[in-house]
Amino acid sequence: MMFYMPAKVYEEKNAVLNHAGEIKGVGTKALIVTGKNSAKACGALSDITKALSDTPFVVFDEIEENPSIETVMKAREIGVSENVDFVIGIGGGSPMDAAKAIALMICNGERDESLLYDKSAETKALPVVAVPTTCGTGSEVTGASVLTIHEKRTKAGIPHKIFPVLSLVDAKYLRSASLDIIKNTSVDALAHLVESVINSHASPFSLMCAENGLAMWSRVKEPLITGNITDADYDFLMHSSVLAGMAIAHAGTSIPHGLSYAVTYELGVPHGRACGIFLANYLKAARANGLENEVDVVLALLGFSSEDHLSEFMDMLFGKTEISKEILENAALKLSENKAKLAYSPFAVNYEMLCEIAGVGDGSV
Ligand SMILES: [Fe+2]
Repeated sequence: MMFYMPAKVYEEKNAVLNHAGEIKGVGTKALIVTGKNSAKACGALSDITKALSDTPFVVFDEIEENPSIETVMKAREIGVSENVDFVIGIGGGSPMDAAKAIALMICNGERDESLLYDKSAETKALPVVAVPTTCGTGSEVTGASVLTIHEKRTKAGIPHKIFPVLSLVDAKYLRSASLDIIKNTSVDALAHLVESVINSHASPFSLMCAENGLAMWSRVKEPLITGNITDADYDFLMHSSVLAGMAIAHAGTSIPHGLSYAVTYELGVPHGRACGIFLANYLKAARANGLENEVDVVLALLGFSSEDHLSEFMDMLFGKTEISKEILENAALKLSENKAKLAYSPFAVNYEMLCEIAGVGDGSV
């Protein structure tokens, strides 16, 4: 077992203001990376600027959902010209993932965007501080940064592992998020939990995080359906998301994430919802391939009686997601060529099985 989670994480009420001194200690001038609205609306941006007090900062608030390489490069220019020496990502996965890629590019001012996906290059990046405002990505405790590659019409994680040095987690930032965002991001966390258990890289540490996270997630099923979410539920949502992040920091994500990227790119289906579509079939495939015990543990911790019960829950949460056969087959084909991603599946998968998990198989596997 290997355990490496170098982010110092504070998960508590008023985490940002309570640890202002540590945030200021990370550098002398900050680039704050956010989306257009949510960091402002939830109060996280004003908490961070208060915490920074006399430490100078520049705000880049142009991170879009599923951030592109182009946006990362635009922020890099600003960071370099402003001479910043640390990056603060505030928001959901998009701003936090972008913050990591921007921190990498600022630190390597002589390199062009090819560095982002250069597997052989050394990873040197400015320190990153993360403040999550949604409950799904786990980016505050992972080294992952997923960007959109328009050229390839999909999303892909960069090979550089860039963990935040400091993460300030406070569930109060979830209160201003729409129910749609809470649903979509919490199902992303659910996918992280499930995929890190049904995973060839699972270890006692990642399982400890995932199993605890699954039990916690089971408590928010009803509130997610009814929309009646209490402060205690927000704590459960945020905490399960952090645990899910720690689990994937060690195990990685697997087939449902791999299938989701093309669906998100082609149809704009939000990331969490897109992953959730494939979870029940992934569990069915795992059961058919000798992983009954693991599947039963996942379902029991979540309080579902079967894979179909999980599938019905997803339909109740989101309604049916209509996706054409062509897009699903294409997602399966793209993933079948991605050997690195397939290696996270604890059972052998080929194109036919990926079609089955995508719901467009012919029943032959
Ligand atoms: Fe995810």
